[in-house]
Amino acid sequence: MRAAWSRLLVVAFAAQLAASSPFIEAGIDASVPAPYAMPHAPLARRTTLGRSPRHLRPEDVVAAFPDDGPRIGKRDGVSPPDVGQMATFTGSDPEPTRLGTGFKFLANSNHALDRQNVDNVAPPTTDQGDIVNLKWSMSLSHTRLLKGGWVREQTVTDLPPSKDFAAAEIAMAPFAYRELHWHKVAEWGYVLGGNGRLTAIDEDGKSFISDIRGPTNSSDPDIYYFPPGVPHSIQALEEGLELLLVFPDGDFDALGTTFMLSDWFARTPLEIVAKNLGLNSTAVLGRIPQVDPYILPSTKAPPPLGHADAEAVRSPQGSIAPSHYVFRLAQQNATVAPGGGGWLKVQDSVTNFPVSKDIASALVFVEPNGLREMHWHNNDEWLYIISGTARATAFAGSSSSRTFDFQPGDTAVFPASWGHYVENTSPTEPLIYLEMFKAPKFIDFSATQWLALTPPQIVADLLNISTEVVEGFMKVKPLIIS
Ligand SMILES: *[C@@H]1O[C@H](CO)[C@@H](O)[C@H](O)[C@H]1NC(C)=O
Ligand SMILES: *[C@@H]1O[C@H](CO)[C@@H](O)[C@H](O)[C@H]1NC(C)=O
Ligand SMILES: *[C@@H]1O[C@H](CO)[C@@H](O)[C@H](O)[C@H]1NC(C)=O
Ligand SMILES: *[C@@H]1O[C@H](CO)[C@@H](O)[C@H](O)[C@H]1NC(C)=O
Repeated sequence: MRAAWSRLLVVAFAAQLAASSPFIEAGIDASVPAPYAMPHAPLARRTTLGRSPRHLRPEDVVAAFPDDGPRIGKRDGVSPPDVGQMATFTGSDPEPTRLGTGFKFLANSNHALDRQNVDNVAPPTTDQGDIVNLKWSMSLSHTRLLKGGWVREQTVTDLPPSKDFAAAEIAMAPFAYRELHWHKVAEWGYVLGGNGRLTAIDEDGKSFISDIRGPTNSSDPDIYYFPPGVPHSIQALEEGLELLLVFPDGDFDALGTTFMLSDWFARTPLEIVAKNLGLNSTAVLGRIPQVDPYILPSTKAPPPLGHADAEAVRSPQGSIAPSHYVFRLAQQNATVAPGGGGWLKVQDSVTNFPVSKDIASALVFVEPNGLREMHWHNNDEWLYIISGTARATAFAGSSSSRTFDFQPGDTAVFPASWGHYVENTSPTEPLIYLEMFKAPKFIDFSATQWLALTPPQIVADLLNISTEVVEGFMKVKPLIIS
């Protein structure tokens, strides 16, 4: 094992020296923007060009070690030597086989799911132990179709390790509302598409209204945060609105977590509601819905995007600035990864988003074939794949690890302290995802930085590598490696 790793490092180094651009190898001129998917295309172009991802392909390994046995057909999934690479099964359905272990399917399997989860079917030999499932696909969630939109959720019943977070994808047709409501826990939102308008008040009766924008070809979207109890509503504007909502409570559907205004009124004696609102008759309240609509269409278009002020209600107690609850990612400078493989934008209450006391977040952009470095956190990490495809291995200690594959709309959990990496498995598409923590501050620990800042002899003796190799490790966190 150790010998294999040190040889691997040599090959990786040689591959780096060769430094041929994978885009040119793939027959694509690197000076021409690659055909990235919407909606973050130019961001991808801006950061990808001029870099040479250091991707170690199985072919490189075979070429370097021709004695490791004849290459067996691509359909076998893994070309020797087996250094934990993802099985490919090019042109055929994945089989539970890997270089002489396993056996083909004799009966049926769900091949579509197998193809998306090759690391479940033919796991790397480094996987070991009984790690529970850490992934959920929003595509497996029940979708509630409503007049004016839809919603689907991931709660702790879908993904039991997700104790810190539940999430929902929610969409509203043009001008439809997410009705007036509040929660026992905070609500964090990320605009996946379209545009919308938020309203809220705080405990002092100050009023808040702000437009929120989705991603465009040249800018990242808005996020927002409402503290526990702050009542709010959301309205879609001209293009409709799709949001990712994240709540710092895995059991979000439990009784007593979400409260709809219309539901409350329907469940209260009407004469009390009338008296409470200063009405001398219940007559005008006779048409309050008896079932809360959750999402509902509007009867009149609101002022267009950018004109929230035109319908703002002036509060005698004052107003709350949009920037209090809304964080504009487009105005945040990205932290370019020293490892050269992408960038991060971190938001938390200590650094730049004071209101977000219960949630720290990071928007992560990983170049094609890039690697979010091997690291861990002191809180559970909840993640959501916005676009692209990824592979990650969760290391639980005690010689236990398990590898997962991710697609857009997947949520996942890396429990506190578990070591992990996230690799972009596409040679052409960027990977964009969110890392979320139920914490006031984003914190991570880097394996590479740790080794680089430890006396080299200690690391050399442990890993049986030379001190020269150790001295080459980065002393700053690489964050994302090209
Ligand atoms: C955004 O990019 C896509 C493809 O890269 C293109 O089709 C679309 O027209 C662009 N939109 C705008 C508003 O520039
Ligand atoms: C109820 O209030 C309305 C105005 O808000 C008033 O016109 C009406 O006379 C009142 N009715 C009674 C019975 O007090
Ligand atoms: C972003 O970077 C630019 C250029 O370095 C700088 O002028 C600007 O102040 C930065 N913005 C923020 C919000 O830090
Ligand atoms: C370190 O690697 C060398 C060369 O492969 C090997 O001979 C030696 O046994 C290894 N030492 C340990 C402690 O594994």
